[in-house]
Amino acid sequence: MTQTQFSSLCVLNKMRSSTFSGLVSAAALLGSADAFWRMSCGVVQAGRIDPLISPGRIAGHAHKISGASDISTSSTYSQLVNSSCTTCEIGDDKSAYWTPQLYYHHKNGSFEAVPNGGHTIYYLGRGDDKSNTKPFPPGFGMVSGDPKLRSYNKTLIPVAAGVASRPFGDRVSFACLTTPDKQKVEQNSMVYTDCQYGLRAQIQFQSCWDGVNLYKPDQSHVAYLSRIDNGVCPSTHPVLLPHLFYELYYFPNEIVQDGGEFMFAQGDKTGYGFHGDFMMGWNTTTLGEAISSGCLTNDTGPTSSGSIDDCPALKRSHSNAAGWNCPQRQALIPSEPVGGMIDKLPGCINLNQSQGPDNAVASDASCSSSYDSQIATRSAPLGPTGMPSSFVQPASTLRPTPGQAVGNSGWVYAGCANDTQNNARSLSALSTTKDYMTIETCQSYCSSKGYSLAGLENGNECYCDNSLGNGGTFDWTNAPSEYYACDMRCAADYGKICGGAARLSVFRKTASTSSSSSSSTSTSSP
Ligand SMILES: *[C@@H]1O[C@H](CO)[C@@H](O)[C@H](O)[C@H]1NC(C)=O
Ligand SMILES: *[C@@H]1O[C@H](CO)[C@@H](O)[C@H](O)[C@H]1NC(C)=O
Ligand SMILES: *[C@@H]1O[C@H](CO)[C@@H](O)[C@H](O)[C@H]1NC(C)=O
Ligand SMILES: *[C@@H]1O[C@H](CO)[C@@H](O)[C@H](O)[C@H]1NC(C)=O
Ligand SMILES: *[C@@H]1O[C@H](CO)[C@@H](O)[C@H](O)[C@H]1NC(C)=O
Ligand SMILES: *[C@@H]1O[C@H](CO)[C@@H](O)[C@H](O)[C@H]1NC(C)=O
Repeated sequence: MTQTQFSSLCVLNKMRSSTFSGLVSAAALLGSADAFWRMSCGVVQAGRIDPLISPGRIAGHAHKISGASDISTSSTYSQLVNSSCTTCEIGDDKSAYWTPQLYYHHKNGSFEAVPNGGHTIYYLGRGDDKSNTKPFPPGFGMVSGDPKLRSYNKTLIPVAAGVASRPFGDRVSFACLTTPDKQKVEQNSMVYTDCQYGLRAQIQFQSCWDGVNLYKPDQSHVAYLSRIDNGVCPSTHPVLLPHLFYELYYFPNEIVQDGGEFMFAQGDKTGYGFHGDFMMGWNTTTLGEAISSGCLTNDTGPTSSGSIDDCPALKRSHSNAAGWNCPQRQALIPSEPVGGMIDKLPGCINLNQSQGPDNAVASDASCSSSYDSQIATRSAPLGPTGMPSSFVQPASTLRPTPGQAVGNSGWVYAGCANDTQNNARSLSALSTTKDYMTIETCQSYCSSKGYSLAGLENGNECYCDNSLGNGGTFDWTNAPSEYYACDMRCAADYGKICGGAARLSVFRKTASTSSSSSSSTSTSSP
């Protein structure tokens, strides 16, 4: 099964996790003939961390960070590449990717973090001269967008005479998905927030480098391509780098709205101030080989589909379970809540700031400094329950054996089944998806609805039925390593396995202690 087929099924399930969430690929809208690769990256930390803008300090506002597990306020290239894991699908990429957190400001003053499972990161081969694309150098970092903007930046990207250019404001865009495959016309700000299938925030990065400075706080070491997502580099920034593009799926419709407003962490209701940060943490051999072998530059080569596995250099360290197997870390200021329902925005955010057209003023840094002494040096993995303190056990050792009692009393493990042949579910009677999924939750759910089989997939999805159907078989219990296996940890119980990509961990109810009226029996067991 290809990832593309899989992705479309995820949409049907309104899957919240970022794993495989590059659904309606924005890259396709930009011109799909160009070679690229795309990876899903779960959240590794949420909090006031920004080693580029606020090195060694607590940042002014809260970010959602994906990638290297050991990201801190003072990350260096060497610390990133030495991270124990990454939440991105490519293990050799220990880069860090971050954007501001989105909140809903309730009428009563509380702020609620808007559900989101991380970033989808695109590496696109772009630029008229793209055969000359060079890898990001170690130590490189950059920021695109401007947190202070509250209106569309109409200034054209400066280019040589006769070259077509676009306004800076086009680097940020928002897509509002109203059905699995329909979206409203993309906007450069948060015009639409009623988006049943997700609000996708998107940002394009600078692809032209001066070839000298690895980072400059004013970002003058980098420049945009003349048309942002394509075109030419200015003569001052002659080195063409891979074109980075981030997508974040937010789920505004999962918030119980009460006449409040959506607001990015820096106090921005407009979305014009959306921004993205990147810190290079790649294994230089791998990134160099991916580029030199044409994975970003050969449009008739294998990666025109965007699939990681079509690029041999990337396939070596590809894990589709990375988002689950490199869990989110505790925020670096443990005393400051940033997720769920909170009393105030993290930091000293002025709620009376400009909401356009004038720029907002930056948040009060002196306020932030009172937190600096609380920065933890290294954060422990964060897990709702069942998280081993030292997170070392490989997923393969966590699988039960068929027949073993697991979860609620009366339930046994039936095996690992394949799913989604011809877009039909192997357990098709009923399903539910939850951030806080455990095996027990799914078993109770299926049992309460009268079903005797409970199957978990992708860490957070639960399917019920009385037998396997639509071609599903239990042949995958001992799947060879080149195939997807049941290898994803449960969203809310990291010590157990809840299926995999297109794989179900199936449990069977053996005891007939249920008060359910169903008389069906399981007809398919291993
Ligand atoms: C990783 O850490 C080790 C030990 O501190 C160090 O010697 C090595 O240079 C680091 N790796 C890189 C690529 O910086
Ligand atoms: C504000 O409203 C939300 C949504 O109804 C609620 O969950 C939250 O507890 C309220 N906050 C306070 C401080 O009452
Ligand atoms: C628009 O962006 C350019 C480039 O970052 C910047 O120089 C200019 O000041 C911005 N305009 C406004 C109104 O912020
Ligand atoms: C980088 O990747 C190459 C190729 O897979 C591997 O041989 C090398 O050990 C890796 N380097 C580091 C520092 O992990
Ligand atoms: C591009 O990829 C195709 C298909 O793999 C291959 O035949 C061709 O040689 C490649 N072109 C270049 C310039 O590498
Ligand atoms: C499951 O795997 C079996 C054996 O390879 C295959 O025949 C069947 O079509 C697959 N079913 C699904 C739902 O993928």
